[in-house]
Amino acid sequence: MDCLNDSPNLMIVSDLDNTMVDHDDPENLDMLRFNSLWETYYRQNSLLVFSTGRSPTIYKQLRTMKPLLTPDITVMSVGTEITYGESMEQDIAWQQLISENWNRDIVCEETAKFPDLVLQSETEQRPHKVSFYVEKYKATRIMEILLKRLEERGLDVKIIYSNGIALDVLPKAAGKGNALEYLLRTYEASGKSPKNVLVCGDSGNDTDLFTLPKIYGVMVSNALEELLQWHAKNAKNNPNIFHSSERCAAAIIQAIDKFGLGPHISARDMDDFSLREVDNVSHEVVNFYLFYERWRRAEVHRSEQSLARFKSVFSPLGIFVNHFGTEQSLQQYLVEVQGYYGDKKRTQFRVWLDRISSAQIGVDTWVVKFYQWEQTGKIYPCFLIVM
Ligand code: GLC
Ligand code: MG
Repeated sequence: MDCLNDSPNLMIVSDLDNTMVDHDDPENLDMLRFNSLWETYYRQNSLLVFSTGRSPTIYKQLRTMKPLLTPDITVMSVGTEITYGESMEQDIAWQQLISENWNRDIVCEETAKFPDLVLQSETEQRPHKVSFYVEKYKATRIMEILLKRLEERGLDVKIIYSNGIALDVLPKAAGKGNALEYLLRTYEASGKSPKNVLVCGDSGNDTDLFTLPKIYGVMVSNALEELLQWHAKNAKNNPNIFHSSERCAAAIIQAIDKFGLGPHISARDMDDFSLREVDNVSHEVVNFYLFYERWRRAEVHRSEQSLARFKSVFSPLGIFVNHFGTEQSLQQYLVEVQGYYGDKKRTQFRVWLDRISSAQIGVDTWVVKFYQWEQTGKIYPCFLIVM
């Protein structure tokens, strides 16, 4: 399932739309803060799980539009599809498990009898998920009747209302909560249960996540009434679930701090990050690319001194290999970077690193592999190795 040797320190299970992704922030600043934090302290010992209502098609679309990290696990279509890693390999066993007492044709037949249910786009109709739009004031009644009819026809389903507009019909055994429970069971079976689990959400289809025992939960400040009402009714006295005062990804960072789940200061939150103590090699690389971003945006002083820190940290023998496989000495690379000062001034230019991994190969020599993404309006990946 993953290549961690030990139990993950932290497993973050986050919804995407209006939780990890703030659609009201075109600059994606809080997500970028989260990304730096994750890559610095968590990538190599923890698990990142995205749990979204989106189908694979529109999840992939989102990844081309927003600076999303590559998660270890992607749960899509409201907990009906689970995939692993960058290659997004499907969990077939999960598909089989949720197929019991599910019959898509019967769901389509019964839902067609409700003229108020408007079918969502073709991409959002999945093997174990049939989705509609319906007005809020009609939803509760329809859900009651539909559930009864489907049960009468021998199906085990659940009907979930989200975003004040979307209605999903799924197998009862599916949903974001059951998918997480399944993942946790698998980790437990291999003796690698995560030390802590934090779930993060904003809407109706996330309620499921908050019902699991022994988890921490954060509802973002912008959470919808449907989730808040569920919480008020069912989990008000649970001290491990809280309603953040922060929006989206900033709420996730706040929760890490509040529950003491690990480091919570992102390199992006430091003005003078280049002078800060660095506690691990990922931190060094994250800091360098943050400097690189600010250097190109002309947000740091154009002085020899600003670059000097990195010149002294990177070994004179260090090598840099870019995604074309071209090798360069690190010092030479720094000289090249020096020449880019301010070339991205007043643009949307941002840099974030993804999937950092490192290995110590000598007393003070490290190989660090990571993906570098750049945003200039458009996103493109780039692969580098630093030694
Ligand atoms: C996402 C999906 C949609 C679903 C909604 C709520 O927006 O694309 O099909 O109905 O989440 O779960
Ligand atoms: Mg959401």
